[in-house]
Amino acid sequence: MTDSQFSQFSHSGNFRPATGAVWHAAWQSPSNIALVKYWGKNEGQLPINPSLSMTLSQAVTKTRLDAFVDGAVHGLVSVNGDPHHPFIPKMQRLLDLLAGDIPMLVKLAIMAETENTFPHSTGIASSASGISAFALCLLDLANQMVIPEISLRDWTRMVSCAARLGSGSACRSVYGGFTVWGRSLLVAGSSDEYAVDVNADVNPGMLSLRDAILIVSSEQKEVASTLGHRSMDRHPFRQGRVIQANSNLEEALRALAANDFNKLGDIAENEALSLHALLMSANPGVILLKPATLEIITRVRAKRKSGLPLFFTLDAGANVHLLYPHEAAFAVESFILEELAACCEGGRVIYDHCGTGPVRFPGRNENQAG
Ligand code: DP6
Repeated sequence: MTDSQFSQFSHSGNFRPATGAVWHAAWQSPSNIALVKYWGKNEGQLPINPSLSMTLSQAVTKTRLDAFVDGAVHGLVSVNGDPHHPFIPKMQRLLDLLAGDIPMLVKLAIMAETENTFPHSTGIASSASGISAFALCLLDLANQMVIPEISLRDWTRMVSCAARLGSGSACRSVYGGFTVWGRSLLVAGSSDEYAVDVNADVNPGMLSLRDAILIVSSEQKEVASTLGHRSMDRHPFRQGRVIQANSNLEEALRALAANDFNKLGDIAENEALSLHALLMSANPGVILLKPATLEIITRVRAKRKSGLPLFFTLDAGANVHLLYPHEAAFAVESFILEELAACCEGGRVIYDHCGTGPVRFPGRNENQAG
């Protein structure tokens, strides 16, 4: 795979690091929730439609890489000290994909330490935060070794491109606020290869949006989303879906600019139900919703009729994300506790909100210097 996005590093094959040299990179990267869903992809991990997401704040992965040159050992040696850690295949796959464009990465042996702030047992996908944190660390290492003349903006775009190769939704996590991935005439500079942030056109009122994640089932959903993307290849509603997503993107961007929460919520619900309708009408059909998911949706819609500003969205799983303005936090969170928590596994709810994006931690060397 070669990608012009990585041209600053493509000559790094000439890079001759000394045996024993060591580099460190550490990043914290958030998860994100899609308001317009990425569903279906073309060759090269390119989306069939543009998607729009809100970056979260509390659901994050922290990853630290220690990279060294050993001569005999290459690639990802261990994760959290374990050479057989279950994350290794997915992370190594990204490393291999990037190595074609950033040859210096091939020369490194890498040990990773990684942890999620959200518990594994919640069933919240960790791939967006985990893969984006790994991509940030890898491109940070590349930067330290080659010191390219590149702006932060271009570097971040490059990271987004790298993260996309590992997991599509991860490319949207490299920015705070609201992000669009996928080419759209409505968003200047948008691309299928990387995400761009659209915050300049978002009303500041939207940046305090809340997301309460209601854990209905802690079963992992990653398989569902990989199979689901594949099911769109020959889906009878594929063409209609692409038209729908583009039209929902247009309306969602307008709602974000106008601080129109009700409109944005309408679109989020339409996207969530469409995603599951596509899953159910695929061949073979997949049902990921649980009775408790439907119970929550029913109660949310009934409550909204009484005036509470509250909408839901879903990923490819049974858990429900509730979106609400921060001004309504007290009323909504009381409603969750009194009426919805009982529908959740162990009463589990994670309270999150729109976040500001990844954070870099100083490496060990920098720490010592400081
Ligand atoms: C339903 O990004 O997990 O959450 O690219 O195969 O890793 P891969 O898929 P992934 O798909 C996410 C699908 C979704 C919608 C979204 O986040 O846009």
